Amino acid sequence: MPEHDDPAAEAARRRTFAIISHPDAGKTTLTEKFLLYGGALANQAGAVKARGGGRAATSDWMELEQKRGISITSAVMQFPYRDCVVNLLDTPGHRDFSEDTYRVLAAADAAVMVLDAAKGIEPQTLKLFDVCRQRELPLLSFINKWDRPGRDPLELIDEIEDQLGIRPTPLTWPVGIAGDFRGVIDRRAGTYTRFTRTSHGSTMAPEEDLDPEAAAAAEGEAWETAVEEQGLLDAVGADLDPKAFLAAEATPVLFGSALTNFGVRKLLDSVVDLVPSPAPRLDVHGDRRPLDAPFSGFVFKVQANMDPNHRDRIAFVRTCSGRFERGMVVTHGRTGKPFSTKYAHQVFGQERETVEEAYAGDVIGLVNATEVRVGDTLWLDTPVEFPAIPSFAPELFAIARVRDTGKFKQFRKGIAQLDEEGVVQVLRDRDLGDQAPVLAAVGQMQFEVATWRLEQEFGAPVELSGTSYTVARRTDEASADQLRTMTGVRVLERADGTVLALFESQYWVARLEQEHPELVLDRLVAEGRPG
Ligand code: G4P
Repeated sequence: MPEHDDPAAEAARRRTFAIISHPDAGKTTLTEKFLLYGGALANQAGAVKARGGGRAATSDWMELEQKRGISITSAVMQFPYRDCVVNLLDTPGHRDFSEDTYRVLAAADAAVMVLDAAKGIEPQTLKLFDVCRQRELPLLSFINKWDRPGRDPLELIDEIEDQLGIRPTPLTWPVGIAGDFRGVIDRRAGTYTRFTRTSHGSTMAPEEDLDPEAAAAAEGEAWETAVEEQGLLDAVGADLDPKAFLAAEATPVLFGSALTNFGVRKLLDSVVDLVPSPAPRLDVHGDRRPLDAPFSGFVFKVQANMDPNHRDRIAFVRTCSGRFERGMVVTHGRTGKPFSTKYAHQVFGQERETVEEAYAGDVIGLVNATEVRVGDTLWLDTPVEFPAIPSFAPELFAIARVRDTGKFKQFRKGIAQLDEEGVVQVLRDRDLGDQAPVLAAVGQMQFEVATWRLEQEFGAPVELSGTSYTVARRTDEASADQLRTMTGVRVLERADGTVLALFESQYWVARLEQEHPELVLDRLVAEGRPG
């Protein structure tokens, strides 16, 4: 029997967050270093080249798994750090950017944004940041790669403020320009931490704390510059503001180098100190499910195994209240059916393990939960329904046709299944039905997964042809009738009855809005940048 029986106290120890970044900013490296500092990788990281050359239908972690011979399936890593339990949710990277990336953020209590010191804010950073902003997710920023030439730190700070409209509050400040990284000043403590490089960053970076006098003597001009820059920050009042951080109005910033481990411990400490522990979650009626209420959770991701020998599906559930105990029979909210959790896994960790218990903030992987979909609620004893996870504005649209008309039935079944799972969104022409549905996605990878599964799993090889549509707007029946008569517009329906109009460009939409103000053309969530 589990020893812990205070779900609220266990929840208070949880820190559940995701890392967001543009490709190559260092998310994979940083993730691994967190594991190193969290003691989950036997004290040596290095050598991790999470991915091979090309893009593949696997996540970074699946390859990492193969490389290391340990079982890590993509979803969440859990490790103890200080007196906390850290849950690091994996947001699939750029190469396999998909709706999953957004959905994972729905299960996080905060995010760490990784920036490349030489590049600052990049397109994908912006996109992901927008999702965080919509969810009012507290955000920590890590300016990475300070070990190699990059930009001026004050300039990077300004860029965060100007481009993201969030107030940067540096917690640490680098001593030494990018490329000559000596250490960081802890702005709150007023101390200087000097780092020492280790071979390939494979072990923790030795740290030495110096007082200002010793720091000045050791670092000379680099120290003086850092102190001057700090003076500027003090003048504009860029100090940590925990309230503003929790309200997602300010972002604490730390400098470092994931490669050499410089600053990684400080970042992890900041995560534990600042990231809020799970709060009672709002249900669809606007009430909060207390943390010590019986178990509840919602599904934020469903992953089908691509390996035909292990064709299972894992539903990832974020625990919201109570204690989960493997084997308990919970209720599947949408169908009202009992659901056995005998095959519950903790799907990230040193090893793939059967999970015995979980608390708010933890993620459980339920194997072969065939009826369970993204957004579903599971509960024990007292019913609850959590709000649906918003689906995001697709930007890529492709027409799917079955290659062999004899396989139409399989095709139809497969398309419906993929739609339900949220692998892609399926849009249908009212007159054509399932003949040539349009698949909609936010990332190319979603199409690849859909094609592969239709062929392998459902036995219905398909041909996908791209379209030039890039924008979808929600419309109503009256507007739809009018839009159907126009050129350059396609009107389609989702299975949930939502009517969408597709356009080739934002420009075209803007013109229509101007010329036909009577048309209903609502933006979908997460489309473009607000304002
Ligand atoms: P991602 O997951 O965000 O896409 O980034 P990833 O960690 O894979 O890092 C992208 C590249 O940047 C890698 O180089 C990685 O080693 C490097 N990198 C990450 N953090 C740092 C850092 O703090 N300093 C420096 N100098 N480099 C860093 P690569 O050339 O793709 O691979 P590798 O041969 O260097 O391993």
